[in-house]
Amino acid sequence: MSAPNHLSLYDQSAPVEYGSLLQFSDDPVACMRRLHSKYGDQAVLQDHGQRLVFVFSPELNRQVLSDSQIFQSQFFAVRGSRNSSQRRVTSGLLSQNGSEHRDTRRSLKDVFAKKALPGYHGIICRLTDELTRSWQTGSGCDLNSEMVQFMLRMTSALLFGLDDVEFAEKLGRLIDRWTHRNHEVGMGALVSAPQFAQAYDSLLQQAEELEHSIREMFSRHRSGHTDGLNILSLLMESAAGEQHISDDQLVGHATLLFAAAHLTTAHTFSWTLLLLSQHPQVLQKLKAELDTHVAGEIPRLEELENLHYLDAVIRESMRVLPASSYSQRITAQPVSLGNLHLNAGTPVIFSQYITHHRPDLYDQPDKFRPERWQALNPSPYAYLPFGAGPRMCIGAPLAMVEIRTALTIMLKRFHFQIEPMSTVNGHVISTMLGPTSPIHATLLPTTVLPTTVPIMGSIHSLVELPEQARVIAQRRAA
Ligand code: HEM
Repeated sequence: MSAPNHLSLYDQSAPVEYGSLLQFSDDPVACMRRLHSKYGDQAVLQDHGQRLVFVFSPELNRQVLSDSQIFQSQFFAVRGSRNSSQRRVTSGLLSQNGSEHRDTRRSLKDVFAKKALPGYHGIICRLTDELTRSWQTGSGCDLNSEMVQFMLRMTSALLFGLDDVEFAEKLGRLIDRWTHRNHEVGMGALVSAPQFAQAYDSLLQQAEELEHSIREMFSRHRSGHTDGLNILSLLMESAAGEQHISDDQLVGHATLLFAAAHLTTAHTFSWTLLLLSQHPQVLQKLKAELDTHVAGEIPRLEELENLHYLDAVIRESMRVLPASSYSQRITAQPVSLGNLHLNAGTPVIFSQYITHHRPDLYDQPDKFRPERWQALNPSPYAYLPFGAGPRMCIGAPLAMVEIRTALTIMLKRFHFQIEPMSTVNGHVISTMLGPTSPIHATLLPTTVLPTTVPIMGSIHSLVELPEQARVIAQRRAA
């Protein structure tokens, strides 16, 4: 558990707000938006002896993200005892720092390198083809659950070579439940809330169940029950070669990779499809690009290179509704950050959502406007959906191929009409911003463009949708 943290302030006008840290864990985006609008680039939320420090500007993001010696990762507040499952399942990259982190990144480099991507492209095409063949024009679906199921299957195939939907779902459930519990217990440790301490035992138990399933998957692997190119096989091969990776280490890698990959990508798909469906003029322009540059329904890898408007759409979707909404570091030694002096052990939070919604960086920042990317080239610390610096997402190139390829196939076959007056809620769970309600839609043929329809829900507090989506919804709410 983390010790109380300390900070001293250079001046009395320091941006400190006194209040419960639970307001942050309950609704991180609302809390950070408020702190940013009240205090600017830097803020401190203080609850008795505990403080969270927030940075919201590209320059402070740069300092926090580029200096990994001082601003260290402590993603899992609870590591468990030395020989526990919790220790092993949390032993992946996010718990590592310094030379250990650098060496692990090096050992994972090849399986995520650009040259490995063509091998994954075929699997992505096959699974998206199967998904879209199960859809029918005129029928209804919940885009959120479709994308979550789809990415469970895709992630399990790409990472582990498993095409076993039941197993993928079970693993996904175990990982999501465990990730959520980690977050609760971590926050509980920070705010010393007694109700969270109860969650500790169940966290350890969930880690044991999870480790058991991961090892079961290793056995399937070793007995040849897997299919096609996959990341685990490549890691096992390198473990058998000159780089030694033990099974205990593989447990940590496998858990982290699955947890980091499936929901982030699923949320990005859901948000992008929702935004496109509510902005038909953007969809129309994208359709024209896909018709011009992609000959069949399944894009070849080199065809994806020419889809500049698709890239702008994805970039804009990940700006306005970033699946990774914030992340945290902990100071390893005393350091000056802006006008604060922080002692060792202080948690520092940076936020993609807040940085991406700064009006000084992005004109009308709450609006979805892919056209802005024609004339925009922000620094890596002003636009950071995959993070930045030495801990930048190692799976970003793979995620981008998944998103480009699968979106192209989906949109070559269907458009989506969002159900009028349906409710779309979005919320941060753990650190991920995703839909927390169904996204009800009807499948249209691509000869028909969807219309913007009024919808309700907390989506309106996250992104400014077109008038037609908002006005009636607000009238109804009133
Ligand atoms: C749209 C999809 C994705 C998004 C938005 C995303 C976002 C991020 C972000 C923001 C970070 C940095 C966190 C920090 O600095 O604290 C990160 C790290 C990471 N991501 Fe992703 N990610 C995505 C997909 C993936 C995929 C597909 C994989 C693997 C197959 C993956 C594996 C990882 C790993 C292992 C790390 C830790 C890197 C380190 O600490 O060195 N991610 N991701």
